[in-house]
Amino acid sequence: MDFSYQLSLSGSGPTSSENLENRSAKHIIAVTMATSRQGASVVRHLSKSGIYEIRAITRSPFSKRAQILAKLENVHIIKGDLLAPESLEKCFSGVYGIFGNTTPTKGWILGRGSMVRDYEIEQGRNLVDIAKKFADTGTLKHFVFSSVCKPRDPLLNEPAPGHFTSKWCIEEYILNTSLKALSTILRPVSYFENFVSDLPGVQISETSFPGVVNKSKVWQTIAVDDIGQWTDAVFKNPQIFLGEAINIAGEEMTGEEMAALWQKIKGKGSPSVRYAMVPRRLINLIEHDIGLMANWIERAGYGADLKQLKTLADELHITMTPLSDWLTEKAALRTSSKQVSMFNSPRIFGIAP
Ligand SMILES: NC(=O)c1ccc[n+]([C@@H]2O[C@H](COP(=O)([O-])OP(=O)(O)OC[C@H]3O[C@@H](n4cnc5c(N)ncnc54)[C@H](OP(=O)(O)O)[C@@H]3O)[C@@H](O)[C@H]2O)c1
Repeated sequence: MDFSYQLSLSGSGPTSSENLENRSAKHIIAVTMATSRQGASVVRHLSKSGIYEIRAITRSPFSKRAQILAKLENVHIIKGDLLAPESLEKCFSGVYGIFGNTTPTKGWILGRGSMVRDYEIEQGRNLVDIAKKFADTGTLKHFVFSSVCKPRDPLLNEPAPGHFTSKWCIEEYILNTSLKALSTILRPVSYFENFVSDLPGVQISETSFPGVVNKSKVWQTIAVDDIGQWTDAVFKNPQIFLGEAINIAGEEMTGEEMAALWQKIKGKGSPSVRYAMVPRRLINLIEHDIGLMANWIERAGYGADLKQLKTLADELHITMTPLSDWLTEKAALRTSSKQVSMFNSPRIFGIAP
């Protein structure tokens, strides 16, 4: 496979990674899984800051999602695969920073679901091993790994879903290397974007607000866009974040409260909204690890400290997105059809690529 080319911003054809390094005095930041919801948010915010060159890594440089990113200022699409370490060597060569993200999503198989723990672990090993090489040569200065939020009470942690423990194992792996001092671990909670899925009835509609967690349990959530904001702040403030791990969330509400919020946003006279929990048995059948996750959220729960985050966000000029704003924006995009088909790329439980 040929990993040695990239698409330049102007689309004027492939260039080598060495050229990319020499072309700019700006710090280069490589973003893995750049076409993912999280990666794209990070790329957008780093691009907006105007102070970096961004290597947006994807396995498919000519995909629609990659091409959208290619239009952003200072963004260069580069081919790379977390399962192909030699491709990462090219992607990470000469970079100042890396935003590293991995995926458990291997493709759905009946009886297994789509998420495979070992699939994510292998990516993490490659990511960390290659990043470490560049840390040891002195070129890499800041490694940000995006994991997932830990609970407030560790004694309630087990059993945790495999697509959480895979990320926490990768964290451990980082801390056992020389990358530790150069690292920041960001731990986001569930995305707002998960409230839309491909399953019939599992998306926000005029009359229901769907979720996988019991209606009375508090569930911390975040706008994907905010992960990009936090990442940008992390790279800009190494003095605060190097060597740190931080749980990040934007909201904490029960399913019932979220449904009531949606009702309020739709306005007076609109049909009443109920919180519709996807039956756990159905979840377990389709995506067992999400069933485990729902149990985990109900028992242990995400442990982000929203008060502390708000203080830090104010200090760093981060405006976190309230769920009400996110829903209001989505509501504005509502079509005239009865179903609220207002979201761009729905997935099963919001996790499949
Ligand atoms: N959903 C949530 O609420 C939530 C919350 C916290 C954390 N997370 C975690 O965040 C991560 C990203 O989730 P997401 O929903 O943002 O992702 P996503 O939108 O599902 O995108 C997955 C991306 O992974 C890339 N990819 C797949 N296999 C790859 C490989 N071998 N090498 C390189 N790239 C590969 C694909 O890009 P190309 O095809 O372009 O290469 C695709 O864009 C996952 O680990 C997820 O568990 C999710």
